[in-house]
Amino acid sequence: MFFLTTAIDYTNGSPHIGHAYEKVLADVIARYRRLCGDEVFFLTGVDQHGQKVQQSAEARGVDPEAYVREITARFVALWEKLGVQYDGWAETIDPRHKACVRAILSDLHAKGALYKKSVKALYSVRQEQYLTDRDRDADGGFGPEWGEVVEMEEENWYYKLSDHTAWLLGHIDSTPDFILPAFRKNELRNAVERSEGIDLCISRPRHRFQWGIEFPFDPDYVTYVWFDALINYISFAGYRAAENADLPDFDRVWNDGPRALHIIGKDILVPAHGIYWPCMLKGIGFPDDRMPQLLVHGWWNIRGEKMSKSLGNIVDPDALADRFGSDAVRYYLVRDITTGRDADFDPERLVMLYNTELANELGNLCNRALNMTKRFTGGILTSGGEDHEEDSALRHSLATATAAWRAAMDKYDVAAGLEAINRHVVHCNGYAERTKPWELKKEPARAPRLARVLQHLAESVAHAAVMLSPVLPDAAAKLAGQLNRPELMNLNAGDLQWGLLPDGHAIQKPSPVFPRILTEPTAD
Ligand code: MSP
Repeated sequence: MFFLTTAIDYTNGSPHIGHAYEKVLADVIARYRRLCGDEVFFLTGVDQHGQKVQQSAEARGVDPEAYVREITARFVALWEKLGVQYDGWAETIDPRHKACVRAILSDLHAKGALYKKSVKALYSVRQEQYLTDRDRDADGGFGPEWGEVVEMEEENWYYKLSDHTAWLLGHIDSTPDFILPAFRKNELRNAVERSEGIDLCISRPRHRFQWGIEFPFDPDYVTYVWFDALINYISFAGYRAAENADLPDFDRVWNDGPRALHIIGKDILVPAHGIYWPCMLKGIGFPDDRMPQLLVHGWWNIRGEKMSKSLGNIVDPDALADRFGSDAVRYYLVRDITTGRDADFDPERLVMLYNTELANELGNLCNRALNMTKRFTGGILTSGGEDHEEDSALRHSLATATAAWRAAMDKYDVAAGLEAINRHVVHCNGYAERTKPWELKKEPARAPRLARVLQHLAESVAHAAVMLSPVLPDAAAKLAGQLNRPELMNLNAGDLQWGLLPDGHAIQKPSPVFPRILTEPTAD
């Protein structure tokens, strides 16, 4: 089983474009792995506990549960709109998840991996959190965002993270593909070295806030939100689940196949996913070869700046999908960013890339291949006359593009995969310009040549539909339907060989699949 997850989105505010990017990227990877013949389990969901959620709910005068249910419904509706098709849905208020977190806490307690201690430290009254020297600004003080800072002493539960840091350094060194892309490895290694000797505070006293999972052996405490949230990756995969819990078989999901793939943003590699999580799994008893792999993506920014509420520049994916359509949003989100790197979000590029690569290039190819076949050969595809050099050049271009697409997609480099498809589409349009089927049609004696040209174009559309299907599943299915070959959508990537459309095959009536996006003229 190929098991992949995304970060679970915090339910303290509206979904934004960064959340949408991560879910679409994961959905594309899940669909691609299915296309490669893997059985896939794609888990995503929402992170519903924590002090900030409790505060936001209080500010709105509703109870936290009603508040998170409302925000959760917005995430669910957005994933539906964007065609994000997951197999498991994680909500941290789910009693099955809470039971798993409590069972893990009890196990760790029984093993002696937890202890309680009192720590005196600086505390921000406004943010209700302890501060460390890392929170100090350049001149050594605490900025206004922290409000009043006082020294406070509090007793809490700690997890012996420090028992596992030496192991983690070894794991990072001996597992070159633990983190993708590889350039993130040093960042993590340095952070682990800096954290040596420090244990993880995993509780919050209930007198401060209540919106968390209660400790099984100390009801005065709730679980720290990150400790709770990270466990979703195993709780919803069936770890320690009751027989009748309606969750998958954990052994099949986690142990039977490649290591779990966690797709996360660069901001949550250190310390949560790169330090806390592997050390938690190690303490729970997971063997090294079953540690997950981390695919760390970059951020979408606006003109080089971080999107933030205070700058008021957050892009709303829901409004974007209403304006441009879900296909255009999906395409842009994986087309204009290299997995692992940051990119600038620019709606003008969204329109430009969609109109150039889909509406113009691919739209033009579909129009030529399908419309002309319908009009010139009654919708019947045949291999026609003898092979010309440009025919074999087209087949060569397709084989090269297919290999490049697979190599890129295997590395999760979706943008490069789409570029490979596009290169072949451009080649096909050049081929049509050179072979001019509209001229061939005028000379009855050249009917066999015309048939061969149209067959080469239609066959290319069939391949493009399959290769595009992880990114644009609906559009790809429409193309397969117009080709009268819906079974193309059940094909295995390994079967992408010349001859998807057999000699004598009849296509359906074509209609445009990628209508141009018409933008209103700007004021200037
Ligand atoms: N709840 C935690 C994750 C817990 S996982 C056990 C969290 N939530 S979040 O809502 O703040 O972020 C969810 C994901 O969205 C993270 O992977 C984060 O990196 C990603 N993004 C948030 N803003 C982003 C961009 N501007 N661009 C791309 N991804 C971004 O962290």
